Amino acid sequence: MSGRARFDFEGKVTVVTGAARGVGRATVAAFVEAGARVVAADRDPGGLAETCAHYGERAAAVVADVSTTEGARQIVDRAAATFGRLDVCVNNAAVAPHTAMLDERAEVWDRVYGVNCRGTFLMTQAAARAMIAGGRGGRIVNFSSGAAQRGGAGGAAYASSRAATEAFSRVAAVELATHGILVNTISPGLIDTQPKPLPPAMAERLAQRIPNLPLARPGRPEEVAQLVLFLASDAASYISGAVISVDGASGAGSRFSGVVVDDDRRYDWVTGRVRADDSGVPGT
Ligand SMILES: NC(=O)c1ccc[n+]([C@@H]2O[C@H](COP(=O)([O-])OP(=O)(O)OC[C@H]3O[C@@H](n4cnc5c(N)ncnc54)[C@H](O)[C@@H]3O)[C@@H](O)[C@H]2O)c1
Repeated sequence: MSGRARFDFEGKVTVVTGAARGVGRATVAAFVEAGARVVAADRDPGGLAETCAHYGERAAAVVADVSTTEGARQIVDRAAATFGRLDVCVNNAAVAPHTAMLDERAEVWDRVYGVNCRGTFLMTQAAARAMIAGGRGGRIVNFSSGAAQRGGAGGAAYASSRAATEAFSRVAAVELATHGILVNTISPGLIDTQPKPLPPAMAERLAQRIPNLPLARPGRPEEVAQLVLFLASDAASYISGAVISVDGASGAGSRFSGVVVDDDRRYDWVTGRVRADDSGVPGT
């Protein structure tokens, strides 16, 4: 199987935050390739310049902090100022420091919530106001993580901030529905966005984790970007308030549980006796 879905965003204007690397960079690329004009925002000017290097007038880079009111307004205002409208806002920027809960510092906790929750709120609010003023409805795509559903050690701040993003997005979906604005949340599993080479401790942890993923590999940023485009496209016109995973089944389970022996073939369920004709080899 090959190829990407074909989406047409010609004439549409999109904001993508966290665009300096990872999923954000891949999402900018996918939107530009699909014909959109993109406001690419991040607090990292160097990474942002690399993201936008080849897109000419199709992409406008904005260096701003999504966790501040001014930053969010600056990013959203740029869409109207440069491209004259706003159709889609992708709130992908996040930070994910992990620490044992007993060692967690309140300043780090506040920063995680500042970017992941406050930033998502401020961007959603600013984008929705601009979309309502434009009168054409719109799409907002927020980000969560599979970590929001698990109690993974070290993730107290990050995992809970992503669960909060899911709850916030459901409220936004309900409140903005009357304005024709659809709001959804993407929940990725492990996605390969780390700069290489990896620090040795992280490389070791991943080497243990990856073989246990159902598909035995992490996702690629481009695979997340394709879901963003789908949710922003006409094909998703009745999807709102949803949390959609892109995780290669890692939220469903892992490979390490052994093969299940099929009891039906070995035992008579009525008598409980082993069948005389059973060879003891599980069948297909
Ligand atoms: N990579 C994964 O395995 C994974 C797993 C689950 C969920 N996610 C989610 O997917 C999204 C993208 O993940 P990623 O791995 O590409 O992230 P990343 O860490 O590679 O990139 C995040 C980007 O956000 C920017 N950013 C951070 N704080 C900012 C701020 N205050 N203002 C503006 N920009 C800011 C960073 O500079 C960076 O460019 C995130 O929302 C993350 O929570 C990622």
